[in-house]
Amino acid sequence: MSIVHRLREPRAGLRGSPQYDAGGGVLIERMRRRHLKSVLAIENQVYPKPWTPGTFQSELEQMRDGYRHYVVATVDSRVVGYAGLLYSGDDAHVTNIAVDPARQGHHLGTRLLLHQVRYAADQGFTNLTLEVRVSNRAAQELYRRFGLAPAGIRKNYYEGVEDAIVMWCHDIHTPEYAERLRLLEERLER
Ligand SMILES: CC(C)(COP(=O)(O)OP(=O)(O)OC[C@H]1O[C@@H](n2cnc3c(N)ncnc32)[C@H](O)[C@@H]1OP(=O)(O)O)[C@@H](O)C(=O)NCCC(=O)NCCS
Repeated sequence: MSIVHRLREPRAGLRGSPQYDAGGGVLIERMRRRHLKSVLAIENQVYPKPWTPGTFQSELEQMRDGYRHYVVATVDSRVVGYAGLLYSGDDAHVTNIAVDPARQGHHLGTRLLLHQVRYAADQGFTNLTLEVRVSNRAAQELYRRFGLAPAGIRKNYYEGVEDAIVMWCHDIHTPEYAERLRLLEERLER
């Protein structure tokens, strides 16, 4: 399989962590324990049933074992958003993506997802999937831009009362998909 997505060379950030320039003054780096306070501050504002510190810590442990990939986006060294992937077979599953409410609508979510999808394809994953609340039109619109299409419904998936739409995008490792991402990114720079 040819891998057509290449992340740009990272630069060394705080304590030598690689930081990727996502454009627009946004840097993206691996989520660490030291980010959790800021991450939880966002998480608690944006979700009706936020993840606990223990859930994030467990996810970070699984990242060390190579089963997850969590990143934060920073602007002027402040955490403004984050996103996570879980790996299963050939699939990369978006577990979480959130942007500080004060900064939503400025393409941070797009930049985070661009990074994560390219990262997944770099690692050899071929499909992208996720669940999203039926009521979450903003997220659904973001996902559609990445070629994610509704494939089914999980009844009462959220708190036993709200349905989830299951979305999939196949062949994220192809040149055609890389071109789609390139155009998406190009539009951000206009
Ligand atoms: C979903 C979320 C991550 C999107 O982040 P964002 O930085 O605000 O999104 P972007 O600015 O990159 O928007 C990308 C596209 O999504 C759509 N979109 C974003 N916000 C929207 C809104 N409030 N209403 C309708 N469409 C919206 C637009 O099509 C937008 O593209 P455009 O600005 O070129 O028209 C953010 O709204 C968020 O954190 N929501 C709370 C957490 C959440 O619901 N996460 C998803 C769980 S499945």
